[in-house]
Amino acid sequence: SGERTVGAGPASLVVVSNREPYSHERGADGETQVQFATGGLTSALDPVMRERGGTWVAWASGDADMAVADDGVVEVPPSDPAYRLKRLPLSDEAVEGYYYGYANQVLWPLCHEDTGRMWAEPSFWEQYRAVNEQFAAAVSEVADDGEPIWFQDYHLALAPRRVRDRRPDATLHHFWHIPWPAPSVFRHCPHGTAILDGLLACDVIGFHTLAYAERFLGCVDDVLPDASVETGDGVVRYDDETRVVANPLGIDADAVRARARAADTTAVRRSVLGDSRSDPSIRLALGVERLDYSKGIPERIEALAHLWERRAALRGTFTYVQKASRTREGIAAYRRYRRDVLDAVERVNDRFGTADWQPVVYTEANLSGESLAGLYRAADVAVVTPHRDGMNLVAHEYPAACVDGGGALVLSDLAGAASHLDGALTVNPHDIGGIADVIERALELDAPERAERLRSLRESVERLDSRHWVARQFGAGK
Ligand code: G6P
Repeated sequence: SGERTVGAGPASLVVVSNREPYSHERGADGETQVQFATGGLTSALDPVMRERGGTWVAWASGDADMAVADDGVVEVPPSDPAYRLKRLPLSDEAVEGYYYGYANQVLWPLCHEDTGRMWAEPSFWEQYRAVNEQFAAAVSEVADDGEPIWFQDYHLALAPRRVRDRRPDATLHHFWHIPWPAPSVFRHCPHGTAILDGLLACDVIGFHTLAYAERFLGCVDDVLPDASVETGDGVVRYDDETRVVANPLGIDADAVRARARAADTTAVRRSVLGDSRSDPSIRLALGVERLDYSKGIPERIEALAHLWERRAALRGTFTYVQKASRTREGIAAYRRYRRDVLDAVERVNDRFGTADWQPVVYTEANLSGESLAGLYRAADVAVVTPHRDGMNLVAHEYPAACVDGGGALVLSDLAGAASHLDGALTVNPHDIGGIADVIERALELDAPERAERLRSLRESVERLDSRHWVARQFGAGK
């Protein structure tokens, strides 16, 4: 195709995702408030779009009417416009069926291999198809000839096929940010053929790990009799050729390091732990996640209870901080999960807490990037123990923020990050006794081992820096 190139990859592109990189909300004064929406995907792609320009197409969540011309296009970032954001308004019915329904009650549990939570109402699939079609129509309208189109994540499995129908020569990429399940699990999907058919309209499909890419190829082999799969090369011949690649996403390590350096850790400790409990000698472990049932938070809290039970010396001297964000609360399973987490925290605090020490400090506060980096920096241990996780970027951010040279990472061996980060202490996320042992070990590492592990972690994180992610994805194209 006739694309120009800047560094590696195309000069300008079209990015398509469910979430918008800048959220548009109506403030108390009725004015539009535009805010960068922090997240792995947006943090990796916003700098790319700022540098290269192009159009980002996303759901106009928040306030659909704000700051939008008739065509739904706004220039972002507002302070220094660099690319176009096309905001797609979705009806309440569409959001129910497509987002809360098919994406988050069928594909999310399926891909996290938690099929007991799958729930597939007819309207979910209907709306998922309709919204994917709506995205495809918008993309076809905004994409210039020769401009590659890059779909993001499980919300948009069908849109590539709908764009291909309109634009046979377009360059189409997809990146699937969550795990891909084993073929035996994928068989639970009531629309597996259509999902694979939609994705295989792409020239390149990226996954965080080789294991996900291989499972995807296994599913194609299992479900689509007309496809031919070359597992070794990661190539599928279906109607045309699709390359299936492992392309791990990372973080902007320099930016995280800079935020950690700028942070006032004493102030952060004080604000999170409370004035009377922020004694600097108290050691801290930290968990940071959305309240998603894939994250393994109750097991972790139970593991901590075991630890305080058997190691009395850690009572009063070691605190666990859980930073949690509410998420997808239109779904009962998420509301229940939050209550379960809150109950678990309360039980442990009732059992072990004293007048001047609280074992688990739980916060849903919306921390700034700098405060979060300060919290990472202040923590002796980060605990990341999801049952399944596509990658998990907290596992990358924590070592990057450990600018004082301390810090140990406890990491689930079922997170994508475990395939890429050297130096973590890995653990089975269901093994409550094992998690307790590993947290204890993390607290007791001698200084040389701690330093060596942190050095390895930081090297891995640098190697995976998000800048390389875009180049690798487009490098995999023809
Ligand atoms: C995961 C998904 C993202 C999603 C994020 C937050 O990381 O891979 O696509 O944006 O969770 O979830 P939400 O449903 O709030 O967008």
